[in-house]
Parts: sequence; C-alpha cells; structure tokens
Amino acid sequence: MASQLRMPFERFFSLCEKHRWSLEGDVEWSSIRHDLVSSDELETLRRAALTEGFSPTYAADLLDLYCTDPEMAAFLSVQFYEEYKHFHALRRYLRLNGVEISDEDATARRGTRTKYASRLIPLVKFGVSEIFTAIFYRNLARATGEPVLKQLCQFIAADEYRHLSFYMSYLEYHVREAGITSEDLIRVLQQYQHQGLEAVEDWIEFWQVNGRHYTGLEPYVVLQNALTRIVGTPVSLRGLVQRTSDRVHAQTFH
Ligand SMILES: [Fe+2]
Ligand SMILES: [Fe+2]
Repeated sequence: MASQLRMPFERFFSLCEKHRWSLEGDVEWSSIRHDLVSSDELETLRRAALTEGFSPTYAADLLDLYCTDPEMAAFLSVQFYEEYKHFHALRRYLRLNGVEISDEDATARRGTRTKYASRLIPLVKFGVSEIFTAIFYRNLARATGEPVLKQLCQFIAADEYRHLSFYMSYLEYHVREAGITSEDLIRVLQQYQHQGLEAVEDWIEFWQVNGRHYTGLEPYVVLQNALTRIVGTPVSLRGLVQRTSDRVHAQTFH
C-alpha cells in the first residue's frame, strides 16, 4: 500500500513535458521594460539566480545519495535540469538589465559538498525549500510591474510547484516506509534552513530584507498543513519562523 502513495516519476515527467517552456521561444526577451524593473528586484533576482546556480553541487550530493533509487534519481535529474535552466534564464534577464553574474560568482561556493546522514534530511531540506521557492516566484510575478519578469517568474513558479508536489509525495512515502515519527520529523525540522544559505554568502541579510517580503508566513502554513497530513497528528512549527531568519540559529544541516 505504502508504495502507491508516491507520485510516479512518469506522472511527474509527463507534467513537466506538458508544461515545458522554452528559454528561447517563450520568453519575450526583447520586450523587457527596463524602466519598470527596480534595483531591489534585480538584487533579489541575483540572490535567487545564485541559489539556482548552486544546482551542480546539490545534484552531486543528492544523486550520490539516491542513485540506487530509480524513481528519485530520475526525478532529481529532471529537477536539477530545471533549476539550472532557471539559473541561466535569470542570469540572462539580469544581464539584459545591466547586472552580470560572472562564472566566478556562480562557482565561488560550489566546492562545499554535503554528505547526508540519512535520506530524510535532504527530503525535508529540499522539499521545504521548494515551498518557499514556489511561493517566492509566484508572489514576485504578482508584484512586479515589468511584464517579462512577470512572465519568467510565472514559468519558474510552475516548475517549482511541480518539484514541491514530488518532494511532498516522496516525503510522505518515506515517512511511512521508514516508520518516521512526528518527533523524528520535528527533530530534523529544528535544524531547517533554506538551501540558499549554502549558495549565497549574505543569505541571511537578503532573507531578512527581501526574501521574507515575498513569502510572508504562507510557506509555514503550507508546511504545517503538509506535515500534519503526512504524519497524521498536528505538527507545531513554533520557532521555525525565527530559525529560518535568525543569524545565530540559521545554519545548514546534513
Ligand atoms: Fe528553481
Ligand atoms: Fe525547484
């Protein structure tokens, strides 16, 4: 029964294929209204791009852990293809607006590798990050007055929501298969920090100013509902809001 809970890779992949957008054909690069994009938006996008650009390191870490799991390995291959596509799309948007991300900027922190102690930890780390990411791009698309950025963020948000669905489905499957308790899950969540912390040097400062502005409290509500459904008992996230934005407590976990 438990194995039926997991979204099959083929279902995920057919949704990706159905909604695939083309970097060259679907984004109207020549229609950018430079007068309608703000410097704050460009700074926000630069951090978002650097986080997306950390994908080769995430892929190396996660494929190492999941290469013997055919469903998860297949999913990760597509997910990181899409995350890296997001990096190149955002980098191009920034370049067209006079903000350059050099290869040195993009690779500066990629040497930091993470060896995970269990399969639960990356599921929580990356799955929860997808909640933040999906809501972030969706709200940025709604907030910006620049039409091409709006379009690009809508495309990216749709990809992130698909990633989120697969991670939550897999987390639910893993929790049941491995007999993970709500206490285990909460213990892992105690250490949660958004993956951007590894990818961007001044992530905390960024998050306190711009990141939270676009996400608000919605990710925590989505997370609480998802975890409560997965473990079957109410899960309290008291303290998590503080930890995801606090300079002292924010530390990556593995
Ligand atoms: Fe992404
Ligand atoms: Fe994603």
